[in-house]
Amino acid sequence: MTEIAFTKSNTLGVMPPEEQLGFGKYFTDHMFTMDYDPQNGWHNPAVIPYNEYSVLPAAMVFHYGQAIFEGMKAFRTDDGRIIIFRTKDYLARFNRSADALCIPNIDIDVVTEGLKKVIEVDKAWVPTKVGTALYIRPFIIATDPYVGVKVSDTYKLFILLSPVGAYYAAGFDPVSIKVEDKYVRATLGGLGEAKTPANYAMSLRAQEEAKKEGFAQVLWLDAVERKYIEEVGTMNIFFKINGELITPDLVGSILGGMTRRTVLELAKSWGIKVSERRISVEEVFAAHEKGQLEEVFGTGTAAVISPVGELSWKGKKITINQNQTGDFAKKLFNTVTGIQYGKVEDTLGWVDEVTKL
Ligand code: COI
Repeated sequence: MTEIAFTKSNTLGVMPPEEQLGFGKYFTDHMFTMDYDPQNGWHNPAVIPYNEYSVLPAAMVFHYGQAIFEGMKAFRTDDGRIIIFRTKDYLARFNRSADALCIPNIDIDVVTEGLKKVIEVDKAWVPTKVGTALYIRPFIIATDPYVGVKVSDTYKLFILLSPVGAYYAAGFDPVSIKVEDKYVRATLGGLGEAKTPANYAMSLRAQEEAKKEGFAQVLWLDAVERKYIEEVGTMNIFFKINGELITPDLVGSILGGMTRRTVLELAKSWGIKVSERRISVEEVFAAHEKGQLEEVFGTGTAAVISPVGELSWKGKKITINQNQTGDFAKKLFNTVTGIQYGKVEDTLGWVDEVTKL
């Protein structure tokens, strides 16, 4: 057991009505923090009031983007428990991102303890309705006050908590997506598989242009041939073609999504033919032409399962499953959320309990 300091906030907030939560706008009363320096390693684990944090303007994170983050969720089950989904798997990915950005690894057990403690303190903020959750945002920033380019010696870790509803305004209705043929998100040998702000900064201009054209998101292609499908940026992508479930394999430029992994594990356990392989946009459009493209959906922690109703590529638009949510996406959504809300038995050991009845 690690000693985690606790300072209680003297101004406690109130959670807005659950139907007004939206995504990522509200934060709970407390946060978890830790510091890193070369002498002490990661130290000072503490639950403190969620408040402004002071840092020198020279802090390296502002200049060269040495930072990583995660996105996880906790849920309130029907019988009143609070559970976190796949805690250790997410924090293991946090450490893989840390490796890519030359940030020292965290001790997963210590951070898990800190996370459980801050959720326990702020448990009144865990919403109850289906479709809501407590979004967990761990992140680490480089704090050396220095404007030369190097790896920072000091870091700060935060975990923020945010009660959320659906990520997309469309909720579980199908979204319209543009296949991006002008900009690229990541290239082999780069940072694409790390959860680091640079990948999201890369996405902004394309996202803005696509939004003006009426699309919810862009679908990224590989940076070299501009041919093979990668991911959506906030989601991984799946195609159901002729009974087979296909998703791009993790070649190095794609984020290894936790919901992606959950869907692959579930589909395999149901005996569905599953392939992680290169898939070109031509293949998807050709399958549609032949009437074999049954469903397309995105997977992400924030978005959960998000059906894709339309795909547009170089001005050609296809409509998938009559722009309706497909049966397979529905089954996945019901199973994943069923496990998360404690309605479906967690036979695969994905659930981590914060509070017991
Ligand atoms: C997530 O699904 O948690 C993401 O990271 C997507 C986005 C909110 C950045």
